Amino acid sequence: MKRTKVVDALQCTDFGKEINVRGWVRSHRSSKAVDFIALNDGSTIKNIQIVVDPTAFDAEVLKSITTGSCLNVDGVLVESQGKGQTVEVTGKHIEVYGLCPSDYPMQKKGQSFEYMRKYAHMRLRTNTFGAVFRIRHNMAIAIHKYFHDHGFFYFHTPLITASDAEGAGDMFQVTTLNLNELTRDENGNIDYKDDFFGRKTSLTVSGQLEGELGATALGAIYTFGPTFRAENSNTPRHLAEFWMIEPEVAFIDKDELMDLEEDFIKYCVNWALTHCKDDLEFLNQMIDKSLIQTLESVVKERFVRLPYTEGINILEQAVANGRQFEFPVTGWGMDLSSEHERYLVEEHFKRPVIMTDYPAEIKAFYMKKNDDGKTMQGTDVLFPRIGEIIGGSVREEDYGKLVAEIKSRGMEESAYSWYLDTRKYGSCPHGGFGLGFERLILFVTGMQNIRDVIPFPRTPKNAEF
Ligand code: 4AD
Ligand code: MG
Repeated sequence: MKRTKVVDALQCTDFGKEINVRGWVRSHRSSKAVDFIALNDGSTIKNIQIVVDPTAFDAEVLKSITTGSCLNVDGVLVESQGKGQTVEVTGKHIEVYGLCPSDYPMQKKGQSFEYMRKYAHMRLRTNTFGAVFRIRHNMAIAIHKYFHDHGFFYFHTPLITASDAEGAGDMFQVTTLNLNELTRDENGNIDYKDDFFGRKTSLTVSGQLEGELGATALGAIYTFGPTFRAENSNTPRHLAEFWMIEPEVAFIDKDELMDLEEDFIKYCVNWALTHCKDDLEFLNQMIDKSLIQTLESVVKERFVRLPYTEGINILEQAVANGRQFEFPVTGWGMDLSSEHERYLVEEHFKRPVIMTDYPAEIKAFYMKKNDDGKTMQGTDVLFPRIGEIIGGSVREEDYGKLVAEIKSRGMEESAYSWYLDTRKYGSCPHGGFGLGFERLILFVTGMQNIRDVIPFPRTPKNAEF
């Protein structure tokens, strides 16, 4: 018989119809008169209940069906008598695809997320991770749809690169050299001539620089791919391999860029509210009782637009009034940590903030400098529970100024020659931003740790699965 997905079976009102469902056992309750098996196939957070007459089945086989077992069930769709579901299946024939021995690591309900991370390859079968990864999929669809509908082209930037887009130096090197037999020049430096690309290469930290080449030709592009950062940040918000969405737009100014950031992220959150209802309701109940309310308020409220200098004043005022922070508020020029960002968003303004005009020193080389010579046209979006979710800016389009900035930072100008050509030939004002995909998923799911919103997290000392 043709298989019906659980998500479709639960919608069906064709009572009396023969049906085939397949999936993994979430629970199996037995009594003398009847067995109840809750079956889930991943298509929805909801299970379908299989009602079994134990006298009609081999007792040994029935007994062996435990949580985690995989079944192929032929039966009849009936209107449910029990509470909590409208439809169930009277089991007629059950084929066991795979039994599940008692050392199944996801057997018990209510295991901690930390425990489940040790079994990251198996945790996907739990309700929570099913919900998280269905939402993750839906967010990816929302992102493509938003940009496609707004005339952006999906642009593929390389993962292997010879330049450091953020200039922060925290890159993973890519090499085919034999690390046990490295050739060195007279100064003791490694000779990359014989390396695969004939030069030193790394995994990209951002597709932005190549994205700018796309935007200054196609007008508006976006990238959506993995990025890699070898920063040793063991926090609930950092991964060594994460996915980033980077739109880049020609002829956009700072206000338009902020409008785009706000409109885009609201669209994504709203998409979750309309397309992931069942999963969000589950997470609202299990993970964060204020989740749906928080999502709804973000969609409704206008984001605050806050110059960095004003933000620092607010933080200093808070400290003067006795507010304590783990990281000290050291005044103008400091880099904000996530607790500072969250103070502004969660306590002071009580809605998302787009922070602008950061000191040049704490931001990347490519940002456009303001006339004061001190600040840059950055446009980071700060979110409740997350802190920075988007990092963006208007780009410096003046060739001379950009070269001077690269030199003053001690960066290797020759590595950026192709990038500088965008400014040399027909330069145009432009800007863009990067959204950390997992930070968006953290926000939308209410999960606490970024390791729990990517199927196979990569963090310092952790690349097992
Ligand atoms: O602020 P970032 O470093 O900006 C850029 O990479 C720019 N090139 C983006 C652009 O303008 N096109 O990173 C952008 C976002 C951050 O706001 C954050 O959400 C996320 O990427 N992010 C990380 N997410 C998880 N783990 C990490 N280690 C992250 N580092 C940045
Ligand atoms: Mg940033």
